[in-house]
Amino acid sequence: MSETKAKLTVLISGSGSNLQALIDACANGSLNAEIIRVVSNKKAAFGLERAQKAHIPTAYHNLLEYKKRFPDASESKKFEHARSEYDRDLATLVLADKPDLVVCAGWMHILAPTFLEPLKEAAVPVINLHPALPGQFNGAHAIDEAYRAFQEGKIDHTGIMIHYVILEVDMGEPIVTREIPIRKGESQDELEQRIHENEWQLIVQGTQKAINTLWKSRQSA
Ligand code: GRF
Repeated sequence: MSETKAKLTVLISGSGSNLQALIDACANGSLNAEIIRVVSNKKAAFGLERAQKAHIPTAYHNLLEYKKRFPDASESKKFEHARSEYDRDLATLVLADKPDLVVCAGWMHILAPTFLEPLKEAAVPVINLHPALPGQFNGAHAIDEAYRAFQEGKIDHTGIMIHYVILEVDMGEPIVTREIPIRKGESQDELEQRIHENEWQLIVQGTQKAINTLWKSRQSA
């Protein structure tokens, strides 16, 4: 493993328990990385407090401000224009820190080309945590859908993946995956808790794997 610590920018929207797993792994050396900034699209995200406690710089990037810039557009156009500009500015904010890798850890916002293209040009990969296996239950309600499919007898397990981010939501190349069997009689809350506990391990593993791949690709460039 390279001695160089990878510089990570972590994008969050909520409680930040996966961010915490990354912070702890950086601190105990199981992840050869340093988190240089945490960006949230929600002002009240508890993950921002976790970052501040760990002395990590934070930023709150507010989509509502962008919607106000297009008062005359229809609702759908307003959203489209706002997202496009929001993501362009997000790319500028993120790239200003010169990160090696961007990790979406519970980032509940679909990334637009105006973010992904400048990141690609700067050769900064973007990875995401998703609580389902590749090709299953894309989108924001993956655990609800898996639990329902289990109740209907259609599946006996779900899973988690860390994958590269591309324009198609939750469809990028998987980096690591883990199957999670669903137990007969368990509640959805119990399943969710087990999924989260597994996520905290997988996000560290997937991030380290993406870092190793990045160093290799830089060596051969
Ligand atoms: C995770 O469970 C992730 O699977 C989902 O959002 C949740 C974020 O949790 N997409 P946290 O903010 O890391 O606690």
